[in-house]
Amino acid sequence: MSREVVCRASPSLALVKYWGKKPGRGNRPATPSLAVTLGGITTETRVRLAPAHGHTDTVVLNGQTQPPERFRPFFESLRRRVRRRSSAQGDLPFFDVDSRNDFPSAAGLASSSSGFAALALGCSRAAGLELSVRELSALARLGSASAARSLFGGFTLLPAGGRSARQLHPPQHWPELRILVVVVSEQAKPISSRRAMEATRGSSPYYRAWLRDAAALLPRALEALRRRDLEALGEAALVSYSRMHAAMIAAGPPVLYWLPGTVAAIHECRRLRAEGIGAWETLDAGPQVKILCLAPDVAAIAERLRRLPELGPSVRLLEARPGEGPVCGVTGE
Ligand code: PMV
Repeated sequence: MSREVVCRASPSLALVKYWGKKPGRGNRPATPSLAVTLGGITTETRVRLAPAHGHTDTVVLNGQTQPPERFRPFFESLRRRVRRRSSAQGDLPFFDVDSRNDFPSAAGLASSSSGFAALALGCSRAAGLELSVRELSALARLGSASAARSLFGGFTLLPAGGRSARQLHPPQHWPELRILVVVVSEQAKPISSRRAMEATRGSSPYYRAWLRDAAALLPRALEALRRRDLEALGEAALVSYSRMHAAMIAAGPPVLYWLPGTVAAIHECRRLRAEGIGAWETLDAGPQVKILCLAPDVAAIAERLRRLPELGPSVRLLEARPGEGPVCGVTGE
């Protein structure tokens, strides 16, 4: 049996959002982001070295072979690291990757964050490369900047222009925190976050204002998180996603991810808060709504969402909590 590396990672949900890239190569974020790793939601990635002289990397996600362009900077950077670290002059490694999400992919549930985090860990292990978690974070960033955060559990920070993310607090910092993911649509999003960011940077008159404001919002959110103050953190998260979406809706042509179910869930969260139940929504590049709340309120919030005609009683709800960073094992040795 040939050697296979199996890694599991969880998506990183930003409370203060990264949106927009620094000019130039390297996929560096233009805004700082503060995030929580979503324990209970997982990408599982299996990596084998491709047969010698194959000279292609193959990535299959949920049974579908992926276009190679998206993965090229990642694999090329990985091979450069292998070349730098190995004294031997042997063939450089290529990879066969089979990855599965236990949640909808490419629908704005941050699947690229857990995907590239698991890929960075799995491929470096398969190639026999010992990288520090910071190096893994920098490598994962080349695929998706949010993936730099998924290399860590708990609460994470990726600074503006940052090469790698870091952990601010372990998951145990706030064990009662819950994130209720409302799957408004299982369809892949109509425009990738990468293209949507470029459209915002290139054509939204609000992009500069977004950059200025995002940096100013961070200290407030950091302090709220340190104090485990749901209301203050929720308010910062609300402002962050609203301004991010305002900037993209102002692009030409507008980028609009919201569906009727998205808007209905936003209004329901407002009503819940007016009734004294802490339900603080946030949105990423897609129609899904993620609700920050505390464990004792999950059932009541879920019940109210199921009653919305735009969602219905069978709406898929995923319950996550602050989770651990990726884990990895090796079989067939
Ligand atoms: O890392 P990407 O390219 O998938 O972009 C992620 C962007 C958001 O999810 C909208 C925000 C974030 O910080 O995760």
